[in-house]
Amino acid sequence: MVDQLVPRLEVQPDARAMAQVAAAFCAERLERADRERGRSRLALSGGTTPAPVYALLGERIRHAGWGPRVEFFWGDERFVPADSPISNYHLAQATLLDPGGIDPRRVHRITTERFADVDAAAAAYATVLDRELPDTSDGFDVSIQGIGADGHTASLFPGGAALVVTDRWSVGVPEAPQPPHVPRVTLTLPMLRRSRAVALLAAGPDKASIVRQALAPACDGVPLLPAAQVRGTDETLWFLDAAAASLLPR
Ligand code: 6PG
Repeated sequence: MVDQLVPRLEVQPDARAMAQVAAAFCAERLERADRERGRSRLALSGGTTPAPVYALLGERIRHAGWGPRVEFFWGDERFVPADSPISNYHLAQATLLDPGGIDPRRVHRITTERFADVDAAAAAYATVLDRELPDTSDGFDVSIQGIGADGHTASLFPGGAALVVTDRWSVGVPEAPQPPHVPRVTLTLPMLRRSRAVALLAAGPDKASIVRQALAPACDGVPLLPAAQVRGTDETLWFLDAAAASLLPR
């Protein structure tokens, strides 16, 4: 399908409108998955951009008949306790899981507190993924991603070793070149690409330059930025506000 080759851009006037459109897209795809397969699987990102999307999505999930059958996963996690203010799980718990009344049995977070290092935590999450997603031709119905100032997504950083790992679903990232500078656990590209739909979120003028760079046609020999390498099997959408899209060619 053409969709999977290039991202479809959904540009809205401001961050709130972007969040509304992104949340509606995610809810629609989760509902479709539930109709077709009796359950849905959503992979969450960290950072700050997703917060309003999670709040709107949690409201929809709370009142939807398909809501109790959504399974939650993470694209990456910081190697911090679950109650840390910089934990990606903590962000989702506060904005989506608790307000959405989510059954904890549907929540498959990347646990870090039980492990000595990120490699052990990553290996443990890979077994969770194998258990919950045993069919390797299947995966998430929606994976929500962000883009960092350097073009990273999840915790796949440009030039980082994790970006080129293809034989594991999740890996440790001992040093993060972007804040917060804490070790990370991240899904690898092959796992992130086991998503029917990828919904990448970017808002604000600070993202305009990296969005333009990430969406520029790949030149021979110049590797795509990590955020541009995450494509869904069926569709890839970038949800932008006008500020983040302001440097894109008209
Ligand atoms: C993380 C995120 C990361 C995030 C980008 C953008 O753990 O940091 O998963 O990939 O999506 O850094 O973050 P903002 O939304 O805060 O700009």
